[in-house]
Amino acid sequence: MSIDLTDPPLRSGPRPRTTGREIPHDQLDQFSPPHIRDALVADAQALAGVFTGPSQVSEPASLALRLHEPAGPWAAFLHPSPDEFGHIHRSGFLHLTVPVPLIEPLQRAGWIEPHPISRRPEWPDTIVMLYAPRDEAELAVARAVLRSSWRQATASSATENGVIIMRAMAFTDFGADLAATDLPVPEAGPGEVLVRVLASSVNGFDLGVLNGYLKGVYDYDFPVVLGKDFAGTVAAVGDDVTGLTPGEDVFGVVMRPTLGQGGYAEYVVVSRQYGLAKIPDGLDHTRAGVLGLAGTAALNAIDAVAPAPGETVLISGATGGVGAFAVQLAAARGARVIATARPGAEAAFVTGLGATWAVDHTDLPAQVRAITPDGVDAALHLAGDGPAVAALLANGGRLASTLHYLPDEPGRDIKATAVMADPSPATLARLAADVVEGRLRVPVARTYPLAETPRAIADFTAGAVGKLAVTI
Ligand SMILES: NC(=O)c1ccc[n+]([C@@H]2O[C@H](COP(=O)([O-])OP(=O)(O)OC[C@H]3O[C@@H](n4cnc5c(N)ncnc54)[C@H](OP(=O)(O)O)[C@@H]3O)[C@@H](O)[C@H]2O)c1
Repeated sequence: MSIDLTDPPLRSGPRPRTTGREIPHDQLDQFSPPHIRDALVADAQALAGVFTGPSQVSEPASLALRLHEPAGPWAAFLHPSPDEFGHIHRSGFLHLTVPVPLIEPLQRAGWIEPHPISRRPEWPDTIVMLYAPRDEAELAVARAVLRSSWRQATASSATENGVIIMRAMAFTDFGADLAATDLPVPEAGPGEVLVRVLASSVNGFDLGVLNGYLKGVYDYDFPVVLGKDFAGTVAAVGDDVTGLTPGEDVFGVVMRPTLGQGGYAEYVVVSRQYGLAKIPDGLDHTRAGVLGLAGTAALNAIDAVAPAPGETVLISGATGGVGAFAVQLAAARGARVIATARPGAEAAFVTGLGATWAVDHTDLPAQVRAITPDGVDAALHLAGDGPAVAALLANGGRLASTLHYLPDEPGRDIKATAVMADPSPATLARLAADVVEGRLRVPVARTYPLAETPRAIADFTAGAVGKLAVTI
């Protein structure tokens, strides 16, 4: 749920009489129950670049929220220092710096009061005390205020000659390594959305971009930031954008006409109309960040072969990101799935996703024919040898290939589709709904911090089961 902090809901009941530092017994109902405070702390810790530790300026159990790993003692105090931008008292009260335009509406609606420290002339008057959230509804407001504070702190913590700088993983030319790079935060033009990226993933496409295989297909606008997937929060919207406001959670696939901006960055500008959808409640950023491209390719491929209940569908490449989604989508339609996987953990992975049989791709024809001597009704070619996969189709069979293999065999009755992932808002929304409603599991094998994306790419190249996530 997104909350408009310029017009927040009214907080119920009287304002607390405490600053939250003390815990008077007659004010216990003004504090956060433990599970609410735990959720708030978890949310704060999930914010990109945030470090937490004991506050140096408040009661010892108060948790400081900082933007940089401290090299020495934690001496700095509250934004606009580059470090601490707030802390969470053990009572759930938050001491935060808040963007100036939000202070009046939040105070009017009963959520904040000026922090006592802000009465001292040397401190900015944006430091407020946000009352402890007492239930889920109040937690949603506290989260939104916390995010606005964090966004303000991150945006002004890194500037160079007045230009706001972001951290990205980019490469500067063909053959150059992917490296941590400071780049200007891009601006959203008309019809575009600036997303504060919190998660992305590794896809085969990213390898193609990095290795220069897409030279001639796309223009490379160096430095090229890698990352096709993204999930995060809307930081700003350009002119003509409707239906989205800053702070809303979104995910999707970067579908820009040139290669330059990508999801391995703190910010990316994407189109409002295409490749973007809102993240529904119940889907976190990390899973949303791996869902876009692989989920879309899987759904498009399954739609192309349209398996009917009881039909057999061979999925070659079932252990990969696309395959892991495709196995589930085919099984959900009642198909009997034959999935490629090595014996052992890989086989358990695909059968756990709903495959009826696991077959070893090194012995594909024999193992598939042993299951269905007349061939399969449909096949997805996500990896391996296209002709070998097509040869296992029964007459009249359907093939979908994400590798753009189209059989050219006169006399064979095969309907083949070369799949080009089409992440329309409707497709992304459908995938997200499938996840939230428990029909689609998002198999995140491992999560890497932004700086470790080269290792994520190396691990992907060496072979991974499921999706590799990157968090920013
Ligand atoms: N056209 C499009 O719009 C589109 C969209 C998305 C993806 N794609 C393409 O679709 C393919 C799959 O994507 P992905 O993200 O799922 O990649 P992935 O995660 O690398 O998955 C490929 C999987 O296939 C397995 N594999 C390798 N050789 C195989 C063989 N001979 N037979 C059966 N399985 C084999 C791999 O296992 P090991 O890791 O153990 O080798 C891996 O688990 C990639 O080539 C990608 O570029 C295309």
